[in-house]
Amino acid sequence: MTQLTNLGVLVSGRGSNLQAVIDACESGRIPAKVSIVISNNPQAYGLERAKKHKIPTAIIDPNQVKDKNTYELEIVKNLKQHAVQLVCLAGYMRIVGPVLLEHFTGKMINIHPALLPSFPGLHGQKQALDHAVKVSGATVHFVDEGCDTGPIILQAAVPVMDNDTEESLSARILEQEHKLYPQAIKLIAEGKIRVEGRKVRVI
Ligand code: GRF
Repeated sequence: MTQLTNLGVLVSGRGSNLQAVIDACESGRIPAKVSIVISNNPQAYGLERAKKHKIPTAIIDPNQVKDKNTYELEIVKNLKQHAVQLVCLAGYMRIVGPVLLEHFTGKMINIHPALLPSFPGLHGQKQALDHAVKVSGATVHFVDEGCDTGPIILQAAVPVMDNDTEESLSARILEQEHKLYPQAIKLIAEGKIRVEGRKVRVI
């Protein structure tokens, strides 16, 4: 039997990408298992999704700890307790600091709702509309110290329509996100990803 890769998923809200990952794991489409879901936000619906699947959860509230390093050390502790091998940020609304990065260098990925390096940071879909691009999409990338700047693993393009609103474009992109994130995790779990500087090769 293939060894399953233990995933730790960090969420701050809705958790639809988390759901896509859980479903891909449970159906056996990807050789991985969500071992823990961690949130900075006690209200995150992603926590409910995890509970429905009997996945352990942890709430780590940054306002309840002394500083960012202490906050991230607490996250690291939970991830290690669950033997997490790959950290997946899924709508995690905080900038990753040096503590988390140091413990999971090259083992942390994120999904972003735009074709990076265009439109990093918040509201990628609105930025795309404001810029009036004709194509946008989704990007899965490794996390580095920058904001959405790490090596790009996979991207999916979606057309931007003249009459798009932020909602309609977000929905079209999200549909792709739900396919792309499991696909990227599958490649990593199967050992098919090599990173050479900025270049991510699928072998
Ligand atoms: C997604 O659009 C993702 O790309 C971005 O935040 C959103 C999270 O949505 N990083 P959800 O919580 O996974 O539904």
